[in-house]
Amino acid sequence: MTRRRPLIAGNWKMHQTVASSGTLVVEILAAIPPQAYDEVDVVLCPPFTALAGVALAIEGTGLQLGAQNVSAFDWGPYTGQISAPMLLEFGTRYVIIGHSEVRTQCGETDAGCSAKLRAALQSGMTPILAVGETLAEHEGGLTRQIVGAQVRQAFEGVSAVDAERCVIAYEPIWAIGSGRSDTPEDAAAVIAEIRTLVPGLDRARCLYGGSMKPANAEALLAQPEIDGGLIGGASLDAAAFALLVNLARKAIATR
Ligand code: 13P
Repeated sequence: MTRRRPLIAGNWKMHQTVASSGTLVVEILAAIPPQAYDEVDVVLCPPFTALAGVALAIEGTGLQLGAQNVSAFDWGPYTGQISAPMLLEFGTRYVIIGHSEVRTQCGETDAGCSAKLRAALQSGMTPILAVGETLAEHEGGLTRQIVGAQVRQAFEGVSAVDAERCVIAYEPIWAIGSGRSDTPEDAAAVIAEIRTLVPGLDRARCLYGGSMKPANAEALLAQPEIDGGLIGGASLDAAAFALLVNLARKAIATR
């Protein structure tokens, strides 16, 4: 099997001011041994307002910067939006697209995700496309259908070479913030299927997200299909986040 570089990304959501994010970055830097960055991509996705401060705080370290959303357009009359060229000014390398909270709270559509994915790719950033099903869909046996449609539509018109550069985060909505993660076997099976949907995705990195924490990460990361995690709550705790990075290192070493 191709060896893919593990990725641990912290989605801070709407947490942290400029001031508190500075403190959190200092704690995270102290908790992660610098050698870890040789083996794992570690990405922080703060709120837009904290990007500049976090960019400065991580300069010269192994930490990388990500954003939580991006406009499909570069410039123009798009009040309240932030574009890829604006994110690039801070050295942002990753951007989350299609998070379920953006889909449900801001009316994000699969077509919107597709446009954003292509804008991010064109800018040179790495999109992290988040997909996942609701509890009702999960219990109704519709996971593959829902996730499959989300992936196929987002990658409409994207070449295999570009698809390979993307990251997919499988985040069952019922697992987000609930304390109840998916089983490693289930998550790996959904991800294995995602890889078959679009040419190039067999070589792309696929993450699991949804209540991932040190207590369950070892089993999730032991699945060869799972290349890392998109972490919400546990990414706000420097010690827990560092443990997750370490578990990703260990998992890759034993594959
Ligand atoms: P939690 O880790 O808090 O469940 O959040 C997951 C998530 O939504 C990451 O994008």
